[in-house]
Amino acid sequence: MEEIFDECWNSKGIQVFVKRDDLIHPIISGNKWRKLKNYIQTFSLNEHSGILSFGGAYSNHLFALAFVGHSLRIPTVGIVRGEELIITSNPYLNQMNDWGMRLHFVARSLYRDKEIPSEYENYLCIPEGGYGSQAIDGMDNLVHELPSCDAIYCAIGTGATAIGIARATSVLVTGILTLNNRAEIEDHLKDFPAANLKLDDKYIFGKYAKSNADLETFCRDFYEKHQIAIEPIYTGRMFYALVDHIKNGHIAPDSKLVAIHTGGIK
Ligand SMILES: Cc1ncc(COP(=O)(O)O)c(C=O)c1O
Repeated sequence: MEEIFDECWNSKGIQVFVKRDDLIHPIISGNKWRKLKNYIQTFSLNEHSGILSFGGAYSNHLFALAFVGHSLRIPTVGIVRGEELIITSNPYLNQMNDWGMRLHFVARSLYRDKEIPSEYENYLCIPEGGYGSQAIDGMDNLVHELPSCDAIYCAIGTGATAIGIARATSVLVTGILTLNNRAEIEDHLKDFPAANLKLDDKYIFGKYAKSNADLETFCRDFYEKHQIAIEPIYTGRMFYALVDHIKNGHIAPDSKLVAIHTGGIK
């Protein structure tokens, strides 16, 4: 836990702590290991031949899975969205291939069906982005590592991290959506209820991964002030929202906030 200081919140007696999960590991950082660890355990207890999952060309989740496979000598397969891609399309795909992940590039229409090629039927399948009950359950330990506080802030992609955190605590969790998937997250909440998770979709900045000068400047200034790197896709949006909430008076004076740094800097 690291406390960060700024006139903007210190003047209101508000304390902001950052849970530095980004420091867990240089590659399987942030929520990645927490989301994967129960799947890895399932793999080691069962008769699967490997682990397969789905993601985009820049997926932090597939990247982490490829590294885990390489480190633990588990065969891995990545089904990647976009038939136009090749292994050298970006350095991450290249690295995943070097770590031994078998990459299959599929057309967007086929990708939607999440079909598993027949040769991998015996593989343990982790849903897209690492979402699933095992990922949600993987957040238990994180919550035990947090101090008592009034609210927790967390970025939302698939929702596994924020839902898992909210289910393991009674503290209010503010989940900052990073893409237009509120309906999908609300569906997940029917399967995994968490009444203390409040969704905020005001910081999507148009669509997933879209940035703008304001957000970019915010991330740069944040690093200069606090020496903590954040990126515009997840943690940048989450901290932007947190600061905005404080500025707009949504946070009661003298509150203690914890922001989860879910990593993503690779
Ligand atoms: C850095 C980072 N933060 C937050 C998230 C969102 O996590 P989740 O998909 O569990 O909502 C992701 C997506 O996996 C991510 O890569």
